[in-house]
Amino acid sequence: MDSRHSNAAPAGPALRDPARRRLLGAAAVAAAGTGIGAVALAPMLRAQTGAGDVVYVPTPQVVVNRMMTMARVGPADFVIDLGSGDGRQLITAVAKFGAKGGRGFDLDEDLLRQANENAKKQGVADRVTFIRRNMFETDVSAASVITLYLLPELNLKLRPKLLAELRPGSRIVSHDYSMGDWQAEESVTMQVPEKQVGNPGVSYVYLWIVPANVSGNWQWKLPGGQPVEVTVRQRFQDLDVRGTAAGRPMNVTLTTLRGEDVRISAAVELNGRTLRHDFVGRVRGDAIEGTVRTFDKGEQAAPWTAARSGGRAASIDPSTVTR
Ligand SMILES: C[S@@+](CC[C@H](N)C(=O)[O-])C[C@H]1O[C@@H](n2cnc3c(N)ncnc32)[C@H](O)[C@@H]1O
Repeated sequence: MDSRHSNAAPAGPALRDPARRRLLGAAAVAAAGTGIGAVALAPMLRAQTGAGDVVYVPTPQVVVNRMMTMARVGPADFVIDLGSGDGRQLITAVAKFGAKGGRGFDLDEDLLRQANENAKKQGVADRVTFIRRNMFETDVSAASVITLYLLPELNLKLRPKLLAELRPGSRIVSHDYSMGDWQAEESVTMQVPEKQVGNPGVSYVYLWIVPANVSGNWQWKLPGGQPVEVTVRQRFQDLDVRGTAAGRPMNVTLTTLRGEDVRISAAVELNGRTLRHDFVGRVRGDAIEGTVRTFDKGEQAAPWTAARSGGRAASIDPSTVTR
């Protein structure tokens, strides 16, 4: 059973709390002694001696599957797991969802060995590699999908790097933790009775799509040849579009940006009448190519080409803007 919600589930309490981490470690020792829960908690033991930024806790398989579905992983995808643990994210991506390949980074030698063995057992060792490297010192630009099960503060620390290195349209899926004020495109709450650590019994899954940087000044012509000049301010996928069309202020009613796909709906005053215009196109560097639909006695479509002049903002992540 799972329930969808649009944005921001509450962040889970457990992993980020050092006292609780120690507690879980102690519980694991006790459990290992009795044999009760040893399988579920054993990874916590290893984490106590690891040098990483977050302890090892595996994502339950049912949640991994949901992450893959939410990211729509398929044959065109190359998946990178930052903090790859026993390799289950990448092995699932390739073996069950047909991704063409994957790379996992971890600091724990035992986990890396285990991940490589698991990849061999599942017959995907030729397509996934697990490498000992700090996730913050890793180039992620080859990925079309990133998987994360970290901590809220690590997600935030990774955020500018992910936005800077990943191609527009790349997907990021995270188990349990959000990206602060970068709103997820999709999120879901799952009841996971077998989950004992992290948020016991519950998992949150989030999806973000890396937006193209469309900030700056854009010009184009309406189907009748009248000029449009707008300035776009951008914060993640949120756009603030202001300017003029045919010499009058343009009343922008809706904007969406999903990867490279942009839509701007506006009410444009032409010859004393207000006409709805829907501009829909794909961003390619300093150009947008697409279609404009107008609504006047029925719908009409015409090509839409926009050009940017004067450059773009260095970042669309406000946390990287220095004042
Ligand atoms: C919570 S586990 C998630 C494992 C796996 N991704 C999953 O979903 O099952 C986090 C992993 O990150 C690794 N890790 C912690 N800090 C790291 C760092 N700075 N660079 C790379 N891996 C790190 C840990 O060793 C651990 O295996």
